[in-house]
Amino acid sequence: MKTELPGRTPFNSDAARDIAYHVHAQTNLDAHLKTGPFIIAKGDGAGVIDDQGKRYIDAMAGLWSAALGFSEKRLAEAAYKQMLELPYSSTFAGRSCPVLIELAERLMSIAPKSVSRALFCNSGSEAVDTAMKLVWYYQNAKGRPEKKKIIAREKAYHGSTIASASLTGLERMQREFDLPIARVVRAPCPHYWKFAGPGESEGAFSERMAIDLEAIILREGPETVGAFIAEPLQGAGGVIPPPAGYFKRVEAICRKYDILFIADEVICGFGRTGEMWGSETYDLAPDMVTCAKALSASYLPIAALMINERVFEAMVEQSRKITLFGHGFTYSGHPVAAAVAVETLKIYEERDIVAMAKEASPSLQKGLRAFAGHPIVGEVRGVGMIAGVELVADKAVKRPFDATKGAGAIVQEEMKARGVLVRALGDVIAFCPPLIIAEDEVKTVTARFGEALDAAAAKLL
Ligand SMILES: Cc1ncc(COP(=O)(O)O)c(C=O)c1O
Repeated sequence: MKTELPGRTPFNSDAARDIAYHVHAQTNLDAHLKTGPFIIAKGDGAGVIDDQGKRYIDAMAGLWSAALGFSEKRLAEAAYKQMLELPYSSTFAGRSCPVLIELAERLMSIAPKSVSRALFCNSGSEAVDTAMKLVWYYQNAKGRPEKKKIIAREKAYHGSTIASASLTGLERMQREFDLPIARVVRAPCPHYWKFAGPGESEGAFSERMAIDLEAIILREGPETVGAFIAEPLQGAGGVIPPPAGYFKRVEAICRKYDILFIADEVICGFGRTGEMWGSETYDLAPDMVTCAKALSASYLPIAALMINERVFEAMVEQSRKITLFGHGFTYSGHPVAAAVAVETLKIYEERDIVAMAKEASPSLQKGLRAFAGHPIVGEVRGVGMIAGVELVADKAVKRPFDATKGAGAIVQEEMKARGVLVRALGDVIAFCPPLIIAEDEVKTVTARFGEALDAAAAKLL
């Protein structure tokens, strides 16, 4: 379709029409007016094909999300079948539908052991938002109206809505948006490589992070702190795995002060870290768990917040008192998205997605660690099928590149030119390929990365 709006010039290329009519997410809108879009026309296994016919391996699985790649017919068929059967139904006022019941049961059969029920919504941000509301709802049910602050960490990414962007610990998500909202308290990011003191062991660093957290709780007043939220492995903040021993101490502190522990598994869930959940990889027992993205392999938007019985009982108590749990969306548990999620979970089970991730992981992790000695590589980190490589200007003292050099963006472009899509998070290059990626494609990703690093070093050093 070629759109012609009265008083506006007609545009005859997709790129020009995108510039004219479409406002992008997480994009420099001014630059976009000049550079235009990167148009992806088709999915193909672990890769995508652009509008010029060039194929790329998508080493980011879209946005850490398309776990089954981009051409899984079973998911398309599941959606189509459900659309013919029952295209829409709500979950308001006790209404349900068979496919959603199946999804809830399947999800809970593989969920972290500490949680037992699921509320559905449409995005990771909504799941986090819902978690925040439930913290407040729960504390009110318990007769603790003051216990409402939520502690989130520096470099956390929890989403883009008002609440979830407030919990996010990245300046770019808050600046000029008048965020964060009240009742959000910030704790330090436990990135050992970056923030450890001279000679400080990983264990000592974790202990210091825990002491800092406890000091924050005591400063705020434990009677005012309702919850702590963390990604098991921090994703969009720079792919930062937790240091050894950190979460054990953090969970103990949360228990000591009766603070709910929320694991944001929007990236980590469904095999990404080498176990079904980040909570399993790092041995956590959260009160609430968010998931999204790989729940439907991202073929349709659907997310869930999973809760434990303690939280659920308080919600039931509130309903008894006020006659209603006054929360939910038109599309909570949309049947078509639910059908795609059910099929996704069936595929995960049949193909043993956790075993697949475990098997593929060494090629990715070892393949990238081979570049640890490269002149512009500071740290290579990650677990399972997620990894990050942090670029530095001076290895010896871990000095970052001047931000104006755009080192990460240069590597990202060099990779793209070589047919591999990665994501530059500042100067951290993120890798999070579809879990179905073939071994030889992982080898291509790491080989191209070596070339891209050399090409970038020639421009930067
Ligand atoms: C850990 C985490 N939580 C929440 C979100 C927000 O999810 P969504 O973009 O689906 O709203 C993201 C998105 O990347 C995420 O990584």
